[in-house]
Amino acid sequence: MPSSVPVTDEAFRSRYGPAALVTGGSQGIGEAFARELARRGLDLVLLSNDGPELDRTARRIAADHGVTVRTARVDLARPDLLEVLDERTGELEIGLLVCSAARSLVGRFLDQDVEEKMNALDVNCRATLCLVHAFGRRMRERGRGGVIIMTSLAGLHGAALTSTYSATKAFDLVLGEALWEELRPCGVDVLSVCAGPTSTPTWEAARPRPGGLLSPRVMQAGDVVLEALDALGRRPTVIAGRGNRLSSFLLGRLLTRSAAARLVGRSVRSLFAHEDE
Ligand SMILES: NC(=O)c1ccc[n+]([C@@H]2O[C@H](COP(=O)([O-])OP(=O)(O)OC[C@H]3O[C@@H](n4cnc5c(N)ncnc54)[C@H](OP(=O)(O)O)[C@@H]3O)[C@@H](O)[C@H]2O)c1
Repeated sequence: MPSSVPVTDEAFRSRYGPAALVTGGSQGIGEAFARELARRGLDLVLLSNDGPELDRTARRIAADHGVTVRTARVDLARPDLLEVLDERTGELEIGLLVCSAARSLVGRFLDQDVEEKMNALDVNCRATLCLVHAFGRRMRERGRGGVIIMTSLAGLHGAALTSTYSATKAFDLVLGEALWEELRPCGVDVLSVCAGPTSTPTWEAARPRPGGLLSPRVMQAGDVVLEALDALGRRPTVIAGRGNRLSSFLLGRLLTRSAAARLVGRSVRSLFAHEDE
């Protein structure tokens, strides 16, 4: 039977602890998840690829919150991802899986290298699916646990310049929603989180030009995380931020799919005009 939503940190820890695995935990939204989960008393495994922030972030979180923080430096696109990860998580009980890392691709579809697109599929879809399958099975055995999948407003509508990224995020969104329903009876809560523009190193590195039709206020990563954790166990999907909820409501309810694709495409072109030259 699905259990009630934990309201205290202690209840959260006994439902989703003792440890969480956070992909992309070295920076951005993943790091913000890691910080908030550590504040609630969960031990952590932070996974990232080859960036320099991983060890520094792990040390800071451990020092700030007194929890145990392990690191796993592994490319999510590796075909042997689960075997490699098992070495780092082996005996640990992962009660919460947060899939935050993603490969973002912005640019004209036909001008991008197809190998880059395949890599985005591996990181954003294949790795997410494999991790949820492996850790979800263990959660089912224990009769409790949680899975959070970071997806995006981009996954709600196709848009020029972000076609592959948007399609991978649509996969993540639907996977999470479906599993919310399927795994609830096993005591496993699954949540898809749709973020809009959020201030993170990856977002800043893409050099967006604010002011597009649909570029509402850029959110802080910590605010996205609080909304996500508040929604976990309550519903299948959350759209973070009131402005994002409003724009997705208007796009989804008032426009045809073709009108929405044109409008979102114009907005993305204006945000990333330098990728469309
Ligand atoms: N920021 C936004 O505006 C925004 C908007 C909508 C949705 N989202 C979603 O929110 C999530 C987090 O986004 P974010 O902006 O915080 O940044 P991000 O670029 O998705 O995440 C950066 C983290 O992911 C890791 N990572 C990237 N590729 C990896 C790979 N192949 N293997 C292992 N780790 C890898 C990075 O590790 P290294 O540094 O070691 O490479 C880093 O820890 C993503 O799923 C994104 O799609 C973000």
